[in-house]
Parts: sequence; structure tokens; C-alpha cells
Amino acid sequence: MSYNIAVIVGSLRKESFTLKIANALTKLAPDTLKLNPVTLYDVSFFNQDLEATPPADWLAFREKLQKSDAILFVTPEYNRSIPGVLKNAIDVGSRPPGKSSFLGKPIGIISNSPGPLGGVSAAKHLQNILPGISGPILGQPETYLNGVGDAFDEKGNLTKEPLQKVLQQYLVAFAAFVDRQSKIAA
Ligand SMILES: Cc1cc2nc3c(=O)[nH]c(=O)nc-3n(C[C@H](O)[C@H](O)[C@H](O)COP(=O)(O)O)c2cc1C
Repeated sequence: MSYNIAVIVGSLRKESFTLKIANALTKLAPDTLKLNPVTLYDVSFFNQDLEATPPADWLAFREKLQKSDAILFVTPEYNRSIPGVLKNAIDVGSRPPGKSSFLGKPIGIISNSPGPLGGVSAAKHLQNILPGISGPILGQPETYLNGVGDAFDEKGNLTKEPLQKVLQQYLVAFAAFVDRQSKIAA
């Protein structure tokens, strides 16, 4: 059994560490997970006035979520929370009311920072935001990657071995979690 995982990338920056981590995860994933990075460049601002006739980009983003078996958030921390683009995408995906595209989907969260705290506050804020609109959230292993600034080579490959190990361990736990939750839901 193989599961499709939408990996939501919480940064728009071209040289984003978050994007590089998402790409590294696709390579480190076990055979049972197919990871598809989803960037947020094209998700326009949520505006409740547009809900009756949602823009095509909202529908396309919601469809990517709906087609996935589970969602993995990879996010940096902005001012001790998640970046606005990520909150906007969550708002878009959460609507219409009661029909969130995250509903029932097992959720993973990996935060990161070049700083010492690994974006832990961003991860904690996601844990606050999601429960009303998503499926269950994997609690352990808590994964807040610090010191990501020197973790990649010039081609963007993850070269810092301790981080590779942490990500591999996370993916093993996430794969088991997704499998377990999917069987419970079936
Ligand atoms: C507006 C803004 C706020 C930030 N706030 C934090 C913060 O609260 N904690 C932190 O660890 N890093 C913070 N940073 C630094 C980011 O971790 C750093 O810019 C990182 O490279 C962003 O992720 P990215 O490489 O995926 O774009 C902030 C950066 C910006 C631009």
C-alpha cells in the first residue's frame, strides 16, 4: 500500500530552506509514502466575498488536498508563528464551512529555522489551528529542525547528516501513523 502525501511548503522564498527540506523529504521517504511538495505561490488571498464563486486557484489547491491521503506541513517560523501565506492557504483549504479539504486527513508537522529554536512556536500554532478542520495530528516525534542554514550544498541537497537522520525517523513514524489512521477510517 502506498499513500499520497501533500507536503505543504510554508515559504515562498526561492532559496527557501523549507522548500529544500520538503525536497529532501521526498528523497528520504519510505516506499509506502509518495511525497508531493505543494508550493503556495498561486494561492490567492482568501476573501469571504468570493466564496460563492471561488477562484480557480482555490479550487486547484483544495483538489490537491482532497486527492491526498495525508498532509505534511513543513514550515518556517515568522514572528513566533506561521507565515501569512501558510495561514492564508489553510483558510482557503478550510472552506466551505464543514467541508474542509483537510477533513479526516492525517497531519504531520515539521518546523525549521536557521536559528536555535527550530521554529517550535510555528509548529505549536499549527497544532492550535488545525484540529477543528483536519484529521488527527501526529504528536511524536516532535520535529523542530534548528540550524538549517548550513544544512544544504550549493545544489540544495541536504548534507547535514544529523538532520537526515531526524527526518528519516520522522518519516518512519509518519508512515506508520498514516497507515494506522487510514485503516481506522476504512
Ligand atoms: C518576517 C520574518 C519573521 C521571522 N521570524 C522568525 C522567528 O520568529 N523565529 C525564527 O526562528 N526565525 C524567524 N525568521 C527567520 C527565518 O527563520 C528565516 O528567514 C528562514 O530562512 C525562513 O524560512 P525559509 O528559508 O524557508 O524561507 C523570520 C524571518 C522573517 C522574514
